[in-house]
Amino acid sequence: MRLSVEPTGRTEYGPGVIAELPGFVDSLGHRRAFVVTDRGLRATGIVERVEKILAAAGIEHAVHEDIGPNPSTAELDRGAARLRAFGTATVLALGGGSALDAAKGVSLLAGNPGAAAADADRLWDAAAGLPLIAVPTTAGTGAETNGFGVTEDVCARRKVYIGHASVKPRIAVLDPELTLGLPAGITAATGLDALVHGIESLASRGATPFSAAYATQAVGLVGRWLPVAYRDGGDLEARAELMLGAHLAGHALTLSGLGLVHGIGHALTAHTGTPHGVALAAVLEEVMQFSAAAAGEAYEATARALHVTPAGSAAAIEAVREISGAIEIKRPLRELGVTREEIPEIAAAAVADAVTKNAPRLPSAAEVAELLRSVY
Ligand SMILES: NC(=O)c1ccc[n+]([C@@H]2O[C@H](COP(=O)([O-])OP(=O)(O)OC[C@H]3O[C@@H](n4cnc5c(N)ncnc54)[C@H](O)[C@@H]3O)[C@@H](O)[C@H]2O)c1
Ligand SMILES: [Fe+2]
Repeated sequence: MRLSVEPTGRTEYGPGVIAELPGFVDSLGHRRAFVVTDRGLRATGIVERVEKILAAAGIEHAVHEDIGPNPSTAELDRGAARLRAFGTATVLALGGGSALDAAKGVSLLAGNPGAAAADADRLWDAAAGLPLIAVPTTAGTGAETNGFGVTEDVCARRKVYIGHASVKPRIAVLDPELTLGLPAGITAATGLDALVHGIESLASRGATPFSAAYATQAVGLVGRWLPVAYRDGGDLEARAELMLGAHLAGHALTLSGLGLVHGIGHALTAHTGTPHGVALAAVLEEVMQFSAAAAGEAYEATARALHVTPAGSAAAIEAVREISGAIEIKRPLRELGVTREEIPEIAAAAVADAVTKNAPRLPSAAEVAELLRSVY
């Protein structure tokens, strides 16, 4: 085997670590910060807390809050225009995956003055973006571990991946206190996303001993602590372990790629607007069952990480069913707004999605359609 693995980046983790933000900004060579966050976050008090920390340290800053869930290219362009006007700064990405992804696009566009977000395909080799610090406020996507984001080109009606090596966050600041107020439904959806990242990474065709090390630890932490954090959102230990697990799962998937659960999940979200984690939950155990013959070792590792015996596919699938039940997230497709007529189209989109190419058992569209009918 020939392996080439990049160092995975700087992580600053722990309750209250957000107070050290000024030092992190300084360490990147700027005393100015451009905060990119989403519209919903102000109400949690987190934006104000960050503003106070920056102001107390005399760091000049602006807050850009004009970002919604599944950000659009238009939102990225507006953010970039504002950052260009603000001038050179460290970009502080603050929020869930949506805000983190948007901040990467905004930072990259600011480094390429003539470019617009719709040019994403050719920006991968363009000039560097501004340096970025990521502060996730959900424990799920792991978007703080990589240099790309997903955005919606509303004009061309397509998903666009916008990214560049330079906008991979220089520092991931993981403060579990920021997730204490996350509502139970969002805790469940984002946490399940992290669990799937770990499981799909283990079973991916792109898995290596490095990704497996991250993924195994991630599955163990998320599997144990997600139900606890769901039941009691104020449990700081559970929030802390879950956040660490989601971050490690991010490293895992960035190294290995994912699989069919995400292929189907993306297609379901595109058709119905279902939150990412809820879409994944709808088909997780069924995809594991479908893949079991080709993913024996990975599911054995999953079972071991979840401490269930005998370590094998059946026990792993049962353990996942239990976690999903404990966080009350699984819905039949009909409840997500899918019509029976749409199933072939969703199946075709799932098979065509780039993430599906790493699935341990490659499905045909007919097989995915059958699987979808079984959870209708
Ligand atoms: N770059 C990547 O590697 C990657 C991976 C997976 C998903 N994504 C992207 O991430 C996005 C999904 O991210 P997400 O699941 O974190 O959801 P999100 O960022 O859309 O946030 C969901 C909701 O939670 C709210 N919220 C966030 N933090 C909160 C807090 N601490 N307290 C209360 N409310 C809070 C937000 O305001 C928002 O309304 C999608 O756009 C997806 O495409 C990116
Ligand atoms: Fe995901």
